[in-house]
Formats: sequence, structure tokens, C-alpha cells
Amino acid sequence: KVAVIELDINNELYSLTVRPADTLLRVLREKVGLTGAKPGCENGDCGACTVLLDEIPVKSCLVLAVEAIGKKITTVEGLKDSAIQNAFLEQGGFQCGYCTSGFLINAHALLENHPDADSNTTREWLESNLCRCTGYEGIGRSVERAKAIIKERRGSDS
Ligand code: FES
Ligand code: FES
Repeated sequence: KVAVIELDINNELYSLTVRPADTLLRVLREKVGLTGAKPGCENGDCGACTVLLDEIPVKSCLVLAVEAIGKKITTVEGLKDSAIQNAFLEQGGFQCGYCTSGFLINAHALLENHPDADSNTTREWLESNLCRCTGYEGIGRSVERAKAIIKERRGSDS
């Protein structure tokens, strides 16, 4: 059995044919062609599939596509030119890159909620994401740099 649903992804509406058991992760990758969210464990443990649902980070391998109807979905593709993306690029906050989109999404949400997060808050917030390459130092450096970029942007806006 299939259904046609509408999903709001990165501020665009998509009409999609899905099965009730399709996860948001699979629909994003296989039906929409947005492959930034990665299938890692597909079990809720690694965070490689993290996206925002109404600005809240969720593991898209644990969310059914039909549960996202009426919500605003943001994938890493929607973070183009964001402070966090620029900071990761500048600081080399990745090695193989498999975990990176999940970290970008989760760190973006952290800085939206806690722009002045200290290192403990940052560590606890990002605990739901795993980096198999153990590149945590570069990731931490990138988050610190993103905080500074956000401050610089706010300063130049005022
Ligand atoms: Fe979703 Fe690992 S793939 S948490
Ligand atoms: Fe390879 Fe994190 S950079 S898993």
C-alpha cells in the first residue's frame, strides 16, 4: 500500500509516493535525491542521519516519512553557506566525512539554541553523534569557530 504525501524540505514542497513503513532517511535519499543524511547504524545510535524537524534535531532513520507531514524538514543541504558549514571547511572538521552532515545539523541546532555554549554543553549536546574516525578535536574546533563567525555576523548586522 502506498500514499502520496507532501513534505516541506529545505523550504520546498515535494509530493512523494511513500509506503507507511518508509523512514524519512530512505525517502530523503531515495525519493528526493538528498543524500546528505547518511545511513550509518539505522538504529538511532550514530547520528549520521540527523536532520531538523521543526528546528529540532532528530535521527531520520527513526522517523517515518509520514510522521514528518506538516513539519519543516531541514537537511544538511539546507545549511549551505551557514556559519557551521563554513567553520567545518575552514577548520577541517572532518576526516572521511561520513559523520559530518549529522554533526553539522546537530551543531547548527546547538548554536541556534545556545550561541554561547561552553565546551561542556557542546560535548553533551553532540554526544548523540559518533565519529568513527575519532575526529572530535577538529569538530570541537569547528564549533568554536562557528560561534565566532556567528558573533562576527551579528556584530556587522548591528
Ligand atoms: Fe540513524 Fe545511525 S543511521 S542514528
Ligand atoms: Fe569519519 Fe567522522 S570523519 S566518521
